Order: sequence, then C-alpha cells, then structure tokens
Amino acid sequence: MSQQRPLTILCLASYEKGQEFMRECKRQGCRVVLVTSESIANANWPRESIDDFFLMPDVQNKWNRNDVIYGVSFLARHQVFDRIVALDDFDVETAAALREHLRIPGMGDTTARYFRDKLAMRVKAKDGGIRVPEFVHVLNHEKLKEFMSRVPPPWVVKPRFEASAVGIKKISSPDELWPILDKLGDRQSFHVMEQFIAGDVFHVDSLITDKEVVFSIASKYGHPPMTVAHGGGVFTSQTMVRGSEDEQRLLQANRDVMRGLGMVRGVSHTEFIKGRDDGEFYFLETASRVGGANIVELVEAATGFNLWAEWAKIEITQGTDDYQVPDHHEYNAGLLISLAKQEHPDLKAYNDPEIWWRLSKQYHVGLIVRSDDPNRVSHLLDEYSRRVQQDFLAVAPLPERPVC
Ligand SMILES: Nc1ncnc2c1ncn2[C@@H]1O[C@H](COP(=O)(O)OP(=O)(O)O)[C@@H](O)[C@H]1O
Ligand SMILES: [Mg+2]
Repeated sequence: MSQQRPLTILCLASYEKGQEFMRECKRQGCRVVLVTSESIANANWPRESIDDFFLMPDVQNKWNRNDVIYGVSFLARHQVFDRIVALDDFDVETAAALREHLRIPGMGDTTARYFRDKLAMRVKAKDGGIRVPEFVHVLNHEKLKEFMSRVPPPWVVKPRFEASAVGIKKISSPDELWPILDKLGDRQSFHVMEQFIAGDVFHVDSLITDKEVVFSIASKYGHPPMTVAHGGGVFTSQTMVRGSEDEQRLLQANRDVMRGLGMVRGVSHTEFIKGRDDGEFYFLETASRVGGANIVELVEAATGFNLWAEWAKIEITQGTDDYQVPDHHEYNAGLLISLAKQEHPDLKAYNDPEIWWRLSKQYHVGLIVRSDDPNRVSHLLDEYSRRVQQDFLAVAPLPERPVC
C-alpha cells in the first residue's frame, strides 16, 4: 500500500454479519473500525481483526440516523475514515448518508436508494430499458384502479424497504386490495403493487469494481422464496450450468441492471423471475450486499473464494491498485437450508462424499454439495429435500431479516 498510514475502514453492521470482510481488511493491513448495535455487542465479532469497536443504541437493530451521524462525526475528530462500508442491507442508506456527510467516495444517497427501495429500483430499471413486472406505487387510488383494470391478476403488494418476503401479499381481485390498504393506513405509500409473474426465481451474485461487473455467478432457487417463506418447504438453490443459454441471459441481465442502477463497486445480489408464460427474465430486485441464507458459502463451494473477502479487497484497492478476481473453480454447487424441529438435528445419515459444508445452528439443518456434474447436484438436492422434510422440517413464523 502506498499510503503513509494504514487505510481505515469503517464498517457498519446493525446485524451480525460480515466477519470475513473485517478479517480480510485486517489481513490486508487496514485499521478496522466497527460500529454495531448495543443489543448485539456480544455477537460473534472477529475481535482480533477489529481495532476499534463502537456501539449504537438500537431498537431491534434499528438506529437513529442522526445518532449515527453525530457518533461517527465525533469519532472522525481524531481519525480519518478512508472507506465506509455497510455490511447489512439495512445499513446501506446509513452508510450512504455518512459518505455524503463526511464527503467520502463511494455510493451516495441517490444510488443507494436504487439498491434499497423496491419502487426506486423498478422505476430506474424500467427507464433503462430493463424488463420488469408491471408495477404501480401504492399512492394514488385512481392509478391503482387503472393498474388493476389494465394488468391482469394476480398481483402482489409489497413493502418497499423490507426483505425476506416479509409483508408481501398476493391478491387476485380489487376487492382484496382495499381492506389491505385500510389496514396499512399511513404505511400504504411505503408499498409497491406489481404483477405477479409465475415462474422460477434466480439470483445472480456479482463483484463490481469501477462500475464494471468483474465476476458473476447465476443460481436458481428450488421453490420461489415467497413459497418457502410462507411455509412451502425446504429452501434450496443451485448454481446454473456455466455457458447454458439461461445462464448467459441472466449474466447479461445482471450487467444491465448494475449499469442501469449505477452500482459503483462492491458486491451485489440480484434476483430475476423467468416468466413461465413467456420465457422472459424479469428483474425482481437487487441489493448492494452479499446474499443471505449462506449464499456466500454456496459461491465459495462453486468457486473457492469468499465474496466478503473479495469485497474487502475491492474496497481496499479502489483508487490505488487494480483488483484481480482470483483464479477459481467452476464447480456445480447446491445449497439446502431448513428449519428443524430438533435443537441439534442429527445429519450423520446424510453422508454423500459431495457434501462440502454443513450448517451448525440450533433448530436448523443446512448443507452444501458440490460436484463436477450438475445432474448429481440436482439429484442430491432433490433427495435431501425429501428426506429433510421427513426427518426435521418445522415451519416457523416469517423471518424478520433478509433470508436470501
Ligand atoms: N412480481 C412478482 N411476481 C412473482 N413473485 C414475486 C413477485 N414479487 C415478489 N415475488 C416473490 O416474493 C419473493 C420476495 O420478493 P422480493 O421482491 O425478492 O423481496 P424480498 O426478497 O426483499 O422480500 C420473491 O423471491 C418471489 O418469490
Ligand atoms: Mg428477494
């Protein structure tokens, strides 16, 4: 590094994540400052990699924006922050507001909004010629009526800023909408309504530097996340066959979305639906973060590198060196996650040699398989999904945090 002093990276994490990001920053010789929530002060933070540790008061991991601006500006009296990084989705706007306030390069308020607000990303993507489901802001009731007379049902009403299919409602007639809106009251305008596109759901996870996608990998969810969130079984995802037509179309669609929305650098998780009726890919949503639900391990199984660590390198090299994507594998990998009835589910009988990773978490089962053969991965995921359903599956209330 050419600087006199080490780079100081300020990490915001109102939720427990990003350990590998902080470890990599430390390995690269940076000073790491973490701001997290009081309520998760004792989470599994990589203390050995953190130089300074600050706590924000929170209500269920949510911070008061002004508190953060005051707090970080106070810290900045005696140190210089070179980068500000949001490790959790809910920190993206806070990080952008801080960058704007301290005049630190990176994603500012306007761009951050495209990666958090489902309405803003729809409008911007559509303006950029990207195919999106028909949509309307839940604001003007005449426009809602016009939408419902023009666009055939079913439709979904969804919150603009939530994740994990929280609060999404699927409806099939105007009569169902008005009671929902009555209940939402003043929260109506924080929603978007759109056409429900039946079909498989895909995700593309990518690395971006200097507004260019330098690495991307496409995967397909087993059941659509909404189906799983509403009690529809085991969550799975499998990497797509490299070079297949759908994979190529998805990677191109992801590049279009990143360019259209102005992603600056870092990592992204973007979702698409392939319309069952027309075979077209529709942009569903994007986020400037590492995908949840152990997608980072899925990508690591497939490639051999960790998205958090690569993101750290991208942040660090920005403006000084060129970032190089590491040489990597192109394995086929499959991920399976489920809630379990048992506190410590016993997966000893799941013992195929293709198992690359196991989740160790109370009341959960999770594993990743990898192979050169995509059919073998599909077969194992099918087989394990069926067995997990029999052996362990529990259905829980909807999660409050991003699941994927
Ligand atoms: N327009 C749509 N058509 C079909 N399914 C949808 C649509 N919007 C959302 N869904 C379903 O709901 C899930 C969650 O929606 P999404 O917009 O990805 O929000 P989030 O993942 O942040 O909760 C999707 O993965 C998909 O299964
Ligand atoms: Mg989603």
